[in-house]
Amino acid sequence: MKKPIVIGNLKMNLTAELGREYIKGFLPFMEHVSESEIVLAPSYTVLPLLAPEIRGSQLQLAAQNMHWEDAGAYTGEISPVLIKEAGCQWVILGHSERRQYFGETYTHVRRKLESAFRHKIVPVVCLGETLAVRRAGRTFQIVEDQIDEVLKGLKPKQAAGTVLAYEPIWAIGTGKTASPWQANEVHHFIRNKIETLFGKPTAAEIRILYGGSVNPENCEALIQESEIDGFLVGGASQKEETFQKIISCVEENWKMKKSKKLRQRLK
Ligand code: PGA
Repeated sequence: MKKPIVIGNLKMNLTAELGREYIKGFLPFMEHVSESEIVLAPSYTVLPLLAPEIRGSQLQLAAQNMHWEDAGAYTGEISPVLIKEAGCQWVILGHSERRQYFGETYTHVRRKLESAFRHKIVPVVCLGETLAVRRAGRTFQIVEDQIDEVLKGLKPKQAAGTVLAYEPIWAIGTGKTASPWQANEVHHFIRNKIETLFGKPTAAEIRILYGGSVNPENCEALIQESEIDGFLVGGASQKEETFQKIISCVEENWKMKKSKKLRQRLK
């Protein structure tokens, strides 16, 4: 059975000193994590400082972005080679803040995705609609276009190894979460689209996360009885305690889902 994922996107917030403190408080908690993959995405400069601290634990590191080229004249950019050297096995691609503030398009995201495959970095591709798109009733259409632009033409194995994060832009950092129903409806749509493009096994295998103002109060309702395979957490990952509560919620839920599946199989 696939594992759920919880990613803490620390954005441009954590200094090296705070990062070390964060990890110190976090590692003992990690010993109780058995079901999920836990990934932290601090700033680039903090990555190589945390890498030796987390060695031997199950905690993994992600970069918040990367360029598609290995090296070259790209002032201010960072390459897959460099993020790997800094200790990352994961990368977040096409986050809405990159699309909104730095002109990133899904053509860029596709190139980055192919580069991530070449370097064996697990890609987490963000998808999602603006409030205007949702109000105009065009959410499915936009999400479908995003999937087509980023994933079409990949091999099913590559698609299955890509993590998708549905993050409605109107829910990111706003305190407005999608209702469990709204989130699940889009997750279901995405999985069906993956099935159309790559077949049933890939659709079952691919992990689709939800992101957008996830916190300890709303995570349970979101993941319960849903197709959500974990969370991409921004604000609530900045404090270890709130992030840990979200992880515990995913852990408990997954255990229940597993035993339910087992019971069904034994029937
Ligand atoms: P948020 O951010 O949890 O603060 O809404 C989510 C994200 O940016 O991935």
